[in-house]
Amino acid sequence: MPAKNKSDKDFSIYFQPPSLTDAKKRGKESIEVHYDFAIPEEMQTFGKDKYYLIRTYGCQMNEHDTETMKGLLETMGYQPTEDKRLADVILLNTCAIRENAEDKVFGELGHLKALKAEKPNLVLGVCGCMSQEEAVVNRISQKHPFVDMIFGTHNIHRLPHLLKEAYFSKEMVVEVWSKEGDIVENLPKKREGIKAWVNIMYGCDKFCTYCIVPYTRGKERSRRPEDVLAEVRDLARQGFKEIMLLGQNVNAYGKDFEDISYSFGDLMDDIRKIDIPRVRFTTSHPRDFDDRLIEVLAKRGNLMEHIHLPVQSGSTEVLKKMSRKYSREHYLELVGKIRQAIPDAVLTTDIIVGFPGETDEQFEDTLSLVKQVGYDMAFTFIYSPREGTPAAAMEDNVPESVKKERLQRLNDTMNDLSKASNDKLKGQIVEVLVEGESKNNPEVLAARTRGNKLIHFTGPKEWIGQLMYVKVTESQTWILKGERVEEPVQKVI
Ligand code: 5AD
Ligand code: SF4
Repeated sequence: MPAKNKSDKDFSIYFQPPSLTDAKKRGKESIEVHYDFAIPEEMQTFGKDKYYLIRTYGCQMNEHDTETMKGLLETMGYQPTEDKRLADVILLNTCAIRENAEDKVFGELGHLKALKAEKPNLVLGVCGCMSQEEAVVNRISQKHPFVDMIFGTHNIHRLPHLLKEAYFSKEMVVEVWSKEGDIVENLPKKREGIKAWVNIMYGCDKFCTYCIVPYTRGKERSRRPEDVLAEVRDLARQGFKEIMLLGQNVNAYGKDFEDISYSFGDLMDDIRKIDIPRVRFTTSHPRDFDDRLIEVLAKRGNLMEHIHLPVQSGSTEVLKKMSRKYSREHYLELVGKIRQAIPDAVLTTDIIVGFPGETDEQFEDTLSLVKQVGYDMAFTFIYSPREGTPAAAMEDNVPESVKKERLQRLNDTMNDLSKASNDKLKGQIVEVLVEGESKNNPEVLAARTRGNKLIHFTGPKEWIGQLMYVKVTESQTWILKGERVEEPVQKVI
C-alpha cells in the first residue's frame, strides 16, 4: 500500500461524518433485522499472513463489540497479536462516557503517530462511541490525519468493506451513521473463556441529561426473543458456564416490539429454563424495573442474585435535573420490593457526584441513600460534561475541589459498606464458579459467588470452569477468602 499523504480536501469522497442533531431524532420507522450477513468469499483471504490488534476502552458492550470485530477479522484471515509492531491493523474501540476516557484515546493516538510514520502500511482505525461524536471526528480529521479509518457503533458489520477501502484509498475512510442502524444477526464472534456476553438490545431512549449514550448508541431496539434464546442455547451447547445479558437499559427490552407483548421478565423466564449454569444482566434502569421481573428473578435457579441498579443520586431534585424519571422514594420502594422477594440479593449501583448545581445537602442525600440501601459495591464518578447533552448547557458551579472531596467521602462510605457486607458472609458456605487463577498467585483460584463477589481459595487448575462450594474464612473490602467444602445439605448463598 502506498504511503498516504492526506489533506483536508481528501475527505470529500468518503467522509460521512456523524451529526449530533440527527442522532437526537428518534425515527418512527420499524427496525429491520437482517439475517443475511456474510463476508464475500474473496475477502476471506484478505488478511492472510496479517495481524490485528484491538484496544478496547469502556464498558462490556464495547468489549463484546470487540469480540464481534475479532470474529470479522479472523473470518478475513487475520491473526491476533498483542505486539503493536507486528500488527498490520490496529483498532481503537473507544468510549465517550467521560472526558478522561476520551483523553486516554487521544493519548494513545499520540503514541501511534510515531509507529504509523515508521510503518506507513499500518492501517489505523478508530471506532466505538467516540466515533459517533461530531466534535471528535472533526478533531481527528484535523489533528490526527494519519488515522486511516473511522467507523461508528451502528456499522461494525461494515468493517471488512471499510478495511478494504482503507487499504486501497489514499483518503481517510470515515463512515459513521448518525441515525441508528438495524439489527444485524449472525455476525461472527470470537468468544473466549467460560463466560459469554449476549446482546439483548441496543441503544437507549432515556436521554438522562448528562449522558452521551443515547446519541452514540442510537435508539432502543431489541433483538427478537427467538434469536436471543437460540444464541443462549448454542452457548450452553458449547459449554459456556455463564452468560451476561447486555443492554444499555435491559429492562426496556421488548418495548419496541410491535407484534408481540414480551418483556425482559418474560425473556429471563425463558432463559431460566435453558441449561446454562449462570445468567446475569446489566444494566437495568430503576424506572422500568417491574414486578414481573422481580417475580421471575425470585425463582433463582440459574438467575443470579445480583442486581446492578444505578441510582446516580439520592436527591429527588438532582434526579429530576438528571431526567432520571424516578424519585428517591420510588427508588427506595423498588429496593424494598426486591429485598422482600430476594432477601439476599446483592445490590450494586452507579453514582455521579458534582452534577451541575448539586448542593452539600443534596450530596448528603446521596450519602444517606447509600447507607439506607446498604449497597455491596458502587461505581462512583465525578460528573463530566459531554458536549451536546442538556447538562453540558447547565452551569457547572460545583468547584473541582468540592467534587473530589464528595467523591472521597462517598468512596469511604462505600468501602465501609462493602467490608460490612463481606463480613456478613464469614463462616458461610457459598456456591462459586471458578473463573481462573488469581492474578498474583497461580496456586490460588479466583471464583465468583452467585452475588458476583470475588473469592480466592487454593485448588488445582482443573477446577477452573466448575461450580463448587466454598466456606468463607476471611473477608476484606474487595475480596473474600475461603476453602473448598463438600456440597452442603443446607441452603447456600
Ligand atoms: N459524567 C459522569 N459519569 C457519567 N456516567 C454517564 N455519563 C456520565 C457523565 N457525563 C456514569 C453513570 C452511568 C455510568 C455508566 O457512567 O453513572 O450509569
Ligand atoms: Fe445513559 Fe441514562 Fe441511557 Fe443509562 S439510561 S445509557 S445513563 S441515558
